[in-house]
Amino acid sequence: MIRGTRNELLHSTITSRASVFGSFPDGTVRSFNSARCHRAHSEEKSRGLMLFGKLPRTGVVSGAMFNHEPVMLNEILEVFSGLSTGTFLDATLGGAGHASALLKAHPDIEFLGIDRDHEAVAFSKSKLSSLGERVTLRHARFDRVAEVLVQTGTHSLAGALFDLGVSSPQLDQEQRGFSYRLDAPLDMRMDQSQSMSALEVINDSSIEHLEKILRENADERFAGRIAKAIVRARPINTTVELAEVVIAAIPAAARRRGGHPAKRTFQAIRIEVNQELVILPNALTDVIKALSPGARLAVLSYHSGEDSIAKSVMRLAETGGCTCPTNLPCVCGRQALVRRVRTVKTPSVAEQTLNRRSTAARLRVVERLSTGWES
Ligand SMILES: C[S@@+](CC[C@H](N)C(=O)[O-])C[C@H]1O[C@@H](n2cnc3c(N)ncnc32)[C@H](O)[C@@H]1O
Repeated sequence: MIRGTRNELLHSTITSRASVFGSFPDGTVRSFNSARCHRAHSEEKSRGLMLFGKLPRTGVVSGAMFNHEPVMLNEILEVFSGLSTGTFLDATLGGAGHASALLKAHPDIEFLGIDRDHEAVAFSKSKLSSLGERVTLRHARFDRVAEVLVQTGTHSLAGALFDLGVSSPQLDQEQRGFSYRLDAPLDMRMDQSQSMSALEVINDSSIEHLEKILRENADERFAGRIAKAIVRARPINTTVELAEVVIAAIPAAARRRGGHPAKRTFQAIRIEVNQELVILPNALTDVIKALSPGARLAVLSYHSGEDSIAKSVMRLAETGGCTCPTNLPCVCGRQALVRRVRTVKTPSVAEQTLNRRSTAARLRVVERLSTGWES
């Protein structure tokens, strides 16, 4: 009888063949397998999918070590320097880096933090435990924010922060299966109680769907070739297997340009698994509606798709949806809900040097007016 979770069993399979993989200085993982090893490997892969079924629905909820370096911390503190009282929402709590600094800078605010990752919430609970009732934390996806506000009796917000994307522990913990550099079962779920993981996306999607994901979520030039190669190589169980398939699918000349050849594929699959772009517009709109007059919303994004969603939701709130010609008086009666706050858009060179993961960050901020849809 076979014992152990799918993760544990896959992991021991991976560990037992870990020695056949090598990592080059550029991070590219290459296989040194012989043809015989390849055959054994593909038999092992088929057994893998048949034996193990789905990934476990609950992950490690230890709350141990969820350290993440908060990006553009000084700029965020500056954006919210006018906070005095009321409830501040952190919609992407992570390791509570921004949260701790904001709570320290504003001793009279109440704080509501949410994250879809159980480990992030557990870690932040223990990190912020000395602050007692000032802090309320919930495990939730931010598109459920309206519900969370009702459940916690929060009528309006004094400020809100979305620091999008993944946190460092999610990328760095091998067993989370986010990284093409670490050999692990394909997973990539931010919320480990969610059923769909990268394993299902990679092994169950049609070529057309895979191609669409790669193109739309990551602008992958070789989306068609990679999608075909993935379908040909299935079943694919692990991050390194997927990285190898992608590397082999890309023309040799292109492999040497623009970072790791599998970077975009992994980003695209992660975005699909977590439905990151799909759920963002409504979440931002709900939060803008919940801001009190004068309250600010800051969005830090790390991906052009996220940034363009933030930009268009903010733009719509800025115009109130008015499309009257700018050279004529407005006749539609729609009113602006927010004003754009001009602020530094990107991390300083010093921060980018110290924290490579901050490099792609873009900051957008709006401030709620006392007019608009809900007033
Ligand atoms: C970049 S980290 C935030 C780091 C945090 N600002 C800090 O200083 O530690 C992003 C976090 O947002 C969470 N997250 C991403 N999408 C989410 C969503 N739709 N709902 C709730 N949390 C989400 C992730 O699980 C991750 O912990």
